[in-house]
Amino acid sequence: MWKVTKEAGIPIYRSIMQLIIQKIQQGDLLPGEKLPPERTLAEKLGVNRSTVVHALDELAADGVVIRRQGSGTQVNEGKWGLTLEARTDWHQYLSHAMLSPKNAYQQKIEQILKGPACAEYLDLYTGELPLDLIPSFSLPMGSWKDFLNEEKHQDELGYLPLRAAISRRLAEKFTLDILPKELLITSGAQQALLLLIQSLLSQGDAVAIEDPSFFYALPIFQAAGIRLFAVPLDDEGIDLAALEHVILKHRVKMVLVNPNFQNPTGKLMSLLRRKNLVELCRKFALPIVEDDAFNELYFSAAPLPTLKSLAPDSVLYVGSFSKTLGATTKIGWLAAPRPVIQKLADARQLMDQEVSVFPQVLAAMALNDPTFEQKVVQLRQRLKTRAAGAAAVCRTFSHWHFYTPAGGYYLWLFQKSGRLTPVQMEQAIDCRLLVAPSYQFGTNRRAIRLNFARIAPDQLPTFKERMQQLLTLWDQTGRN
Ligand SMILES: Cc1ncc(COP(=O)(O)O)c(C=O)c1O
Repeated sequence: MWKVTKEAGIPIYRSIMQLIIQKIQQGDLLPGEKLPPERTLAEKLGVNRSTVVHALDELAADGVVIRRQGSGTQVNEGKWGLTLEARTDWHQYLSHAMLSPKNAYQQKIEQILKGPACAEYLDLYTGELPLDLIPSFSLPMGSWKDFLNEEKHQDELGYLPLRAAISRRLAEKFTLDILPKELLITSGAQQALLLLIQSLLSQGDAVAIEDPSFFYALPIFQAAGIRLFAVPLDDEGIDLAALEHVILKHRVKMVLVNPNFQNPTGKLMSLLRRKNLVELCRKFALPIVEDDAFNELYFSAAPLPTLKSLAPDSVLYVGSFSKTLGATTKIGWLAAPRPVIQKLADARQLMDQEVSVFPQVLAAMALNDPTFEQKVVQLRQRLKTRAAGAAAVCRTFSHWHFYTPAGGYYLWLFQKSGRLTPVQMEQAIDCRLLVAPSYQFGTNRRAIRLNFARIAPDQLPTFKERMQQLLTLWDQTGRN
């Protein structure tokens, strides 16, 4: 609904700008979607056409919309400029006041998943392992006092035994040479990203991300007034010619990538692309943030070298237990040169946001458990089997494509042309199939993200049947 509230002291054109930004953030207006014509908008809002023109011109100047003579105004398909929503202080972020509300589809899915009919749906939307796949460890029962006592091993970087365990694991399995004093334990990978944004970037700074990207969906960038620029992916990973163009055009301050089993496409960046990406960023003296939340979940015999191992000084490496041990652990980490780590740790102390020692003790126990390795190997095997099952089904859908998963748990099912609309996502719900729409990741190309880890072998026939039903519906809509 187009309704603007007049507020004392705020020019009406600014309230209109705010309304449009809100609609984009709530998913009521999608990337690439056309706005009503100026005259219609003015009538709906009960203002002069010149006021609407003023608001749209300002939004175009901020990169939120694109205006073309003769073809009207449409929402920018890149990450819309967010500088208007800039935040100046971290506590405002924590107060949630600046967070954009969830879009209608997300809210509906959450309601379904909490509701009594939840079991009737196939939930391939949730970005987590199902409980039956998460490795389980028995917990040595100490006393309450034992737990509290562990606080003495905690400093501003986190619980030392956990940092030592992560350091060992990264060295043994990922040939990453990181000392415990170069590791900061965070409350999940998202807190690591948030600290990086807060400490190393300023409002209005430009960051390059992959298109599509999970980062597009995170409110932390918009809350900080960071401008995100999306760079297309090709078969090997982020397109370097396009990245160079974006770096030069927008004076990018940081490149943020997810090379292993990217969320949402599941893509694995090739070794050559990793090397060339590091080289390109070195040329522009740009830091890379490598989000490696899926590092443990590779299906091949060994993982590819991380960007961090290729360029230890210029890569900030973010990890998490969420994708392997369950999101409730909410433990992540950041590996960076010592001065950066110190700066981030200081910033966090000021914000009073240290991580409690309790989940850290538990995470250290899991990592040091003698069965950890064997359980992770088993998890990879089971994921590989589920990926193969889902891929075999998806191969039967004509005119639909996907990248064969090489790890992680996402399969990106797409068509080469066409758009995805909220109405089509409603149809997916009607088919009792919960999947993530492309527009959640910054594009409205006709594509969906499926979490294949959540399809148990005996659910494959149901998956196939419901997908066929849905794609037939979409084919019919496409022809209308
Ligand atoms: C690539 C990527 N990074 C980070 C996260 C967030 O991790 P955490 O739960 O540790 O904050 C996710 C979760 O979906 C993710 O997909």
